[in-house]
Amino acid sequence: MLIEVLPSILSADFSRLGDQIRALEAAGCRMVHLDVMDGHFVPNLTIGAPVVESLRKVTKMTFDVHLMITDPDRYAPVFIQAGADHVLVHQEACPHLDRTLHMIQSEGARAGVVINPATPVFMLDDVLEIVDSVLVMSVNPGFGGQRFIDNALEKVRRLAVRKRERGLQFPIEIDGGITLENVASVAQAGVEWIVAGSSVFHTVNPSAAFEELTHTARAAVEVRV
Ligand code: DX5
Ligand code: ZN
Repeated sequence: MLIEVLPSILSADFSRLGDQIRALEAAGCRMVHLDVMDGHFVPNLTIGAPVVESLRKVTKMTFDVHLMITDPDRYAPVFIQAGADHVLVHQEACPHLDRTLHMIQSEGARAGVVINPATPVFMLDDVLEIVDSVLVMSVNPGFGGQRFIDNALEKVRRLAVRKRERGLQFPIEIDGGITLENVASVAQAGVEWIVAGSSVFHTVNPSAAFEELTHTARAAVEVRV
């Protein structure tokens, strides 16, 4: 599977969102990560479904919608209706995770599950056969621009072992604190989808930053012959 970098618009310039997304698409970007926060599950507020709906009109890119909200069961269908392709829910927010994942799939989206830095990988043991992707948080969710928590790499490796042992195909995703310095080790640990917010948008040229991160990640796992 080809490694993809998913720019997180949390760090974008919200007054120019459409332009910024179109520029990334022109640079070869295929997926964009949209962070939804409710001020309860995480101590911050961001976008709701109307923003997703507006962005849906300006791009064909895959929308990876990360729900950091206390009631994902209630709102997941609303985001799918607005144009989400992937809906990611937190294990910590879902007492009936199996049901939630099936519900997202039956509503027509791909269902991803997310674990916070303090949640062990084994909490997902009984849903790995169901999920379409697994996201390992490498910061405590709520804000862009935080420092990468190293323990995430070990969790990715553990997840990659389970995936191999069971012959599963779900992509492993990582989110938080990704930079040009650590993107290679993240790729080598087994991550296929790499979310990057400030290291893409807090630069003079977001498209160039996206390209450089993508190139560095892919080169790190290239098989040399
Ligand atoms: C954090 C969000 C991330 C955030 C990452 O709660 O889930 O997607 O945008 O930002 P960076 O890449 O700056 O850590
Ligand atoms: Zn996110």
